[in-house]
Amino acid sequence: MKLIIDTDPGIDDAMAVFYAALDPTIELLGLTSAFGNVTVDIATRNALRLLDRAGLDVPVAAGAGNPLVLPPLPPSSHVHGAEGFGHIPAETPSRRPLDLSAAEFLTDMARRHRGELVVCAVGPITNVALALRLDPDFARNVKRVVFMGGAARVPGNITPYAEANTYHDPHALAEVIASGVEAVMVGLDVTLATLLRSDDFDRLARTSPHLGGFLREASRFYLDFYRGIGNDGCGLHDPMAVIAAASPEMFTIETLGLSVVPDGEQQGRTVLHDGDEGRIGICTGGDMEAVKQRFLAAFD
Ligand code: BDR
Ligand code: CA
Repeated sequence: MKLIIDTDPGIDDAMAVFYAALDPTIELLGLTSAFGNVTVDIATRNALRLLDRAGLDVPVAAGAGNPLVLPPLPPSSHVHGAEGFGHIPAETPSRRPLDLSAAEFLTDMARRHRGELVVCAVGPITNVALALRLDPDFARNVKRVVFMGGAARVPGNITPYAEANTYHDPHALAEVIASGVEAVMVGLDVTLATLLRSDDFDRLARTSPHLGGFLREASRFYLDFYRGIGNDGCGLHDPMAVIAAASPEMFTIETLGLSVVPDGEQQGRTVLHDGDEGRIGICTGGDMEAVKQRFLAAFD
């Protein structure tokens, strides 16, 4: 499967990119960066750093620095650390991003690989909305957009109502839904159904010192954050979206109407409905333990 990951790296974003690098069914064509966990400049640098570490010479295109409509929130440094990978210090990557914007790169690649390209958005979905605005054919050219975000039948994580990615840019998600592009939502309903614990990261570091060791180091900060909110382990958010893109048969996917609350107290809340408008695939279940094992086994 031809894949571009749109990302705001971020610790679980690093897990997602490394998983994509290791899954033999995935052909990673590049990364696009967005604000969210960190600023877009740090996200772009971190995307390049992850590719350096994974030994992948594929392009990175820098994307949106702000949501479409709302004022930007401060980066989530209390969750991912000031530089995005917990306590791991900043590092200059070996390469530079493309001169193209993320939206330009996405639309170009969707045209070049018409009907084959899957875009997996694991940050605020702003770049996908910008690609849809830039090229009216993007919705048809792309095979599918799989996004990590939302909370269909469970509470949010950034507020009681909203998951962080949809909270950051609900207007972008509304445009993606309205475009009619084939889309699949991988939200907190599934991504918090199983957790990665410190012994899982020890296993990753043992079986894959270079990639898994990096994740174990970064995860110390992430696990501390989760411990602070009462969880003995962290969510598999972004890697689960990549696994859903590559292996959708591992998930229960219900096709339902989806809308998103644009502002106010419930900003970013994803709401299911029975109408004909805005129907997309919603991941609502599956064997999440098997998904976790799929993730861990990729590093063996
Ligand atoms: C999402 O928010 C970000 O902090 C994570 O990287 C993930 O994409 C989880 O709500
Ligand atoms: Ca992310």
